[in-house]
Amino acid sequence: MHKLLVGMTLAAGAVLFGAYAVAQSSDPAMLQRANARIAVWDIPEIDQLPDNDYGQLIRYGRSVLTATSSHIGPDAADPAMRFAGNNLACANCHLNAGSKKFGLPLVAAYADYPEYSARGGATSTIEERLDGCMTRSLNGSVLPRDSRPMLALVAYLKLLSTSLPPQAKIEGAGSGRIADLDRAADPVRGAAVYQQKCAYCHGDNGLGVRRNVADASFGYGVPPLWGPDSFNDGAGMNRLTTIASFVHMNMPNGTSWVMPQLTVEESWDVGAYVVAQPRPQRAGFDQDFPNLLLKPADTPYGPYADSFPLAQHKFGPFPPIRAEIARMKAEKGTVPNPNVK
Ligand code: HEC
Ligand code: HEC
Repeated sequence: MHKLLVGMTLAAGAVLFGAYAVAQSSDPAMLQRANARIAVWDIPEIDQLPDNDYGQLIRYGRSVLTATSSHIGPDAADPAMRFAGNNLACANCHLNAGSKKFGLPLVAAYADYPEYSARGGATSTIEERLDGCMTRSLNGSVLPRDSRPMLALVAYLKLLSTSLPPQAKIEGAGSGRIADLDRAADPVRGAAVYQQKCAYCHGDNGLGVRRNVADASFGYGVPPLWGPDSFNDGAGMNRLTTIASFVHMNMPNGTSWVMPQLTVEESWDVGAYVVAQPRPQRAGFDQDFPNLLLKPADTPYGPYADSFPLAQHKFGPFPPIRAEIARMKAEKGTVPNPNVK
């Protein structure tokens, strides 16, 4: 496994700015050297940045990520800044401010865009990817392109990608991918796992724990997993493979991929229990995935290219669906898209 480097000194950070310049070069030898760093996460020490416009923008971006609701939440102090529809923080999902392996890291996000989006059916920019989390994970509206939170988030993401060449693929990306079950995940078994291993933090009712009961803009000490202030049904976290892997690698909070606390089966079942609960509903799903053959098997809303029932798309087993999609793609002569997981 590769090293995770955090807490670098300013001097080392300066070397990384050099590496970024290299990554932009078209000299093949220099690019190769830059590529050799891909798997090492060199994250500059943000608190060491100077207190100038740039340093302030970056620190504000990190704050938007970690204290999202106080800046852009539905109860934010400035009514003109209320873009998010719930009081989650980006960093409730993108753990350690986007720097945790298999905790939905954002380390390579900037380097990876523009990237083809199967959901959008077109190449999308980093800003358009943020729109996705704003309208689904945060159940709100998009941030205007020239707003300070948008500029600051993009600047922060760019800094996280400092040492990576364009299109870099990192170790520890996403929430990983735990082994498939050969049965459907079971929300009833998941309820028992939830009671034993989640409820003492997230609550029996799944609504989490607010930092300040009188003021929602303080966000959550423990975020909700369902209910009106949670992510909506079009969010990535509402896909069973995403939540099951995320929970396996990261929950109970403080767990890391090095020593998971839940078995693979428990992770699938508790994920199924969570996605079976009520949450805000998103409209306009017919706009998603214009090419249905590129729609992930566990997308919990139709239409689908195949004829498996909705329940199987939600809870699995997924391998038969993937096999059928692969067969249909081969029939059409479609080139597999490596970006579709
Ligand atoms: C409820 C959980 C959740 C919240 C809250 C959330 N996200 Fe995400 N985000 C996800 C998931 C899941 C993905 C998809 C990860 C994948 O494809 O592996 C994602 C993907 C992304 C990506 C693309 C990453 C990449 O490497 O392609 C970016 C950038 C991003 N989110 C930024 C944000 C920002 C900024 C916020 C807050 C404004 C936010 N997210 C809030 C769950 C969340
Ligand atoms: C020790 C307390 C604790 C336990 C136990 C715990 N969580 Fe969490 N969970 C958290 C905290 C805190 C966060 C937010 C992390 C952050 O902001 O850094 C979180 C985040 C999450 C998220 C992403 C954010 C969101 O709102 O969707 C999911 C999903 C999740 N937990 C599911 C679970 C499941 C399922 C279990 C049981 C297997 C579980 N957690 C057990 C404390 C806990």
